[in-house]
Amino acid sequence: MQSSVTRSICTRAAGYLIILSVLFWPQLSKTAYGAEMDIGKKVFESRCAICHGFKGDGNGVIGIVEKGVVGDKLWSVYPRDLTVGVFKFRSTPSGCLPTQADLEHIVSQGITRAAMPSHKDVSKADVDAVIEYVKTFSTRWKEETPCKPFTAAKPTWVGSAESAKKGQEVFEKMKCWECHGKEGKGDGPKSQDIKDDSGKPILPFNFTTGELKRGSTPENVYMTFTTGLDGTGMPSYEDSLNEEQRWNLVSYTLKLMKK
Ligand code: HEC
Ligand code: HEC
Repeated sequence: MQSSVTRSICTRAAGYLIILSVLFWPQLSKTAYGAEMDIGKKVFESRCAICHGFKGDGNGVIGIVEKGVVGDKLWSVYPRDLTVGVFKFRSTPSGCLPTQADLEHIVSQGITRAAMPSHKDVSKADVDAVIEYVKTFSTRWKEETPCKPFTAAKPTWVGSAESAKKGQEVFEKMKCWECHGKEGKGDGPKSQDIKDDSGKPILPFNFTTGELKRGSTPENVYMTFTTGLDGTGMPSYEDSLNEEQRWNLVSYTLKLMKK
């Protein structure tokens, strides 16, 4: 008797709990999501807006982060307009959005050659929150389904003299030199006329500086040829070069970079 009363009280309580959680779940989850957005907004406004602007449109206080004269042109680097939603340093195919890991990598590591500082002092939770906030700037994040990323499994022979020699042949055959120059100094015949998607002049990478924007590990170099750099004129070689050719090209790139 006693136990059946207890059981019925328990069942009723469980029932109320279910009803309550169904009623309040949208609010509860919204609060958690809202809290992350608040943190993301705070981090963005204190750490990123100075360059990327409060609206993420690239119009921060610092309009141009670097200037220099190369060849006969003045060269500038502009903070990215994040409302366009086009990203260079992805592990996903050309034209796709980057993965969460790609964004975490670039935000925490920074882009030394483009004067974007490292944010290694920012906690992972705050980096994730600021990325969620960055995603509110472009509707692409709501409209598109994520693409499958490539993986880069480096063969043991990468970096050998033989592989670098084969890589040099690929560099010549694929006409990388038209933009990057015969010796990889970023001064090929086309180098002075390349414009990025927003119409601003952009210089091809000078390999002899020894430092990629994405980061200079062999895997990062491999990803660059595989995915291309959206919005820059630097194409993807996923279709035109097989994996072995791309790894040979990595060996040659590392040689030009004196790594
Ligand atoms: C000192 C200026 C500066 C600050 C501060 C800065 N950035 Fe950047 N950021 C840049 C520049 C410049 C680029 C463009 C680099 C390029 O295209 O070569 C860039 C590019 C990016 C990109 C595009 C990466 C890609 O794959 O194309 C993202 C995302 C980004 N920044 C996020 C952030 C976030 C988030 C913060 C704050 C936590 C931040 N940035 C702080 C200057 C800055
Ligand atoms: C049409 C011109 C063009 C061609 C062809 C081209 N690139 Fe590029 N490449 C660029 C531009 C422009 C950039 C600079 C993008 C930036 O700084 O944002 C670049 C950047 C790079 C980078 C540096 C990426 C980084 O993270 O900083 C590497 C490595 C590279 N290219 C290798 C190659 C190789 C190897 C080939 C041939 C298989 C090639 N490129 C063909 C225009 C070109």
